[in-house]
Amino acid sequence: MAVRLLNMSRFARLSRPLLRTTRQYSGAAASVDGSYTGPDMKTTVPGPKSKELFGDLMKIQQAGGVQYFVDYNKSQGNYLVDADGNVLLDLFGQVGSIPLGYNHPAIKERITSQGIDTLVNRPALGCFPPTDYAQTLQDALLSVAPKGMSEVMTLMCGSCANENAFKASFISFMDRQRGGPVNPSAEEYASALYNKGPGCPKLSVLSFKGAFHGRLLATLSCTHSKVIHKLDIPALDWPCAPFPQLKYPLDQFVRENQQEEKKCLEEVEDNFSTSQKNGVPIATAIIEPIQAEGGDKHASPEFFEGLQTICKKYGASFMVDEVQTGCGGTGYMWAHEAWDLPEPADFVTFAKKMQIGGFYYTSERRTNEAFRIFNTYVGDHMRTVVLGAIVNEMTKRQLLGQVKETGEVLLTGLQKLEGMHPSLVHSARGAGTFCAIDCHDSATRDKLVGQLKNKGFQVGGSGELAIRFRPALVFEPRHANMFLEAFDDVLKSQ
Ligand SMILES: Cc1ncc(COP(=O)(O)O)c(C=O)c1O
Repeated sequence: MAVRLLNMSRFARLSRPLLRTTRQYSGAAASVDGSYTGPDMKTTVPGPKSKELFGDLMKIQQAGGVQYFVDYNKSQGNYLVDADGNVLLDLFGQVGSIPLGYNHPAIKERITSQGIDTLVNRPALGCFPPTDYAQTLQDALLSVAPKGMSEVMTLMCGSCANENAFKASFISFMDRQRGGPVNPSAEEYASALYNKGPGCPKLSVLSFKGAFHGRLLATLSCTHSKVIHKLDIPALDWPCAPFPQLKYPLDQFVRENQQEEKKCLEEVEDNFSTSQKNGVPIATAIIEPIQAEGGDKHASPEFFEGLQTICKKYGASFMVDEVQTGCGGTGYMWAHEAWDLPEPADFVTFAKKMQIGGFYYTSERRTNEAFRIFNTYVGDHMRTVVLGAIVNEMTKRQLLGQVKETGEVLLTGLQKLEGMHPSLVHSARGAGTFCAIDCHDSATRDKLVGQLKNKGFQVGGSGELAIRFRPALVFEPRHANMFLEAFDDVLKSQ
């Protein structure tokens, strides 16, 4: 059953003024989908082939999270092809980590032209970097660095990026306590090897309820989205402040939302002063620009600026976790650019669409000695080379502009749908194509996500109630309209 691709869908008709500038981008993106023009479903998902492969994998590991198996050779652009030959329009983008869709020619070309050596030899970049390494970092990472950030460290995944940024923030906090990077005392050296103070100081990281910062030991102590992530694992007893629970649409609840944010900032300040009194000062506050795994929760620029001010007052670092929001999905390269902060954050962490994990930092936060932020690979040269091609393509095709335009079509359509189906969905919200809509309960959300998948539209859930959208940057208004039409049909059929 192939889903019809209408030249002018009912959503395209409704949002026609928003589509007026599509032409400037369409030449770029028309080719990325290859011959696919819409979903084409042959079986329900997972189909028989996926089920068979699932059985094989389950013999080897706990693979309960697998939804279906993918044929990455056949997948193209915004379309994902599963093991049973089903063609799905992908609005989830491998949990928000595909910037240019599948099999993008610019990435293939970069891998081919860079030469097989880059792939064959994986260097220990902290010790034996290739000759073009500084230039690669410059092209791929520093060319798109958040304003005011002049240095970058590459690592592996998002958890690894946050975990190492915590370490860098602790080191710089202690340097500042000592009045500069002066030599630590003999007692500090002697005690550090056996996990004792003063060499291992009592410091903490402030995180927010509902946050997700990863699954390693320190980051897991800052993750508060799902209990199953944390159960049975020892945790650091670090403070956790409430994240604003705003009402949507934001422009209709300005007063209530301001009050809510004020209350949360008061609790943040309480946490800072209590932690200081208890002798475990907060060295860093970590926050997502949009709480993603926690259910697509937004806060205002004023809230984030208030948090930065409190961090400064207490001598702590302000760390922005852009693992999910970074690399263009919100219509900005970095979501926090939209806040227009008076001064840069101290750390900005990334992974997912950026292909490698890592963090940007201000020069004041550089560690004095080598090896303090380190591992064998410190990133992956090939992935950084690929990122260079992605960044180049984003600039050449003005993809941030396209994301803003498509995001407007998607969000306007979602808002229209919540008006048409108020008993099923509400609180449509988003920045760029980083959008979400809430269902009235988790069971309805899970059912709708499943029904959309069987119609050929891959979306994701976040938090308890939200359906989240994380398409690639090459997702266009015509794709958004195709989805909105199918979503309308699914909602009508409840
Ligand atoms: C905001 C945020 N931080 C950190 C992480 C962890 O990244 P990774 O799964 O690459 O370790 C995620 C993953 O979803 C995330 O959304």
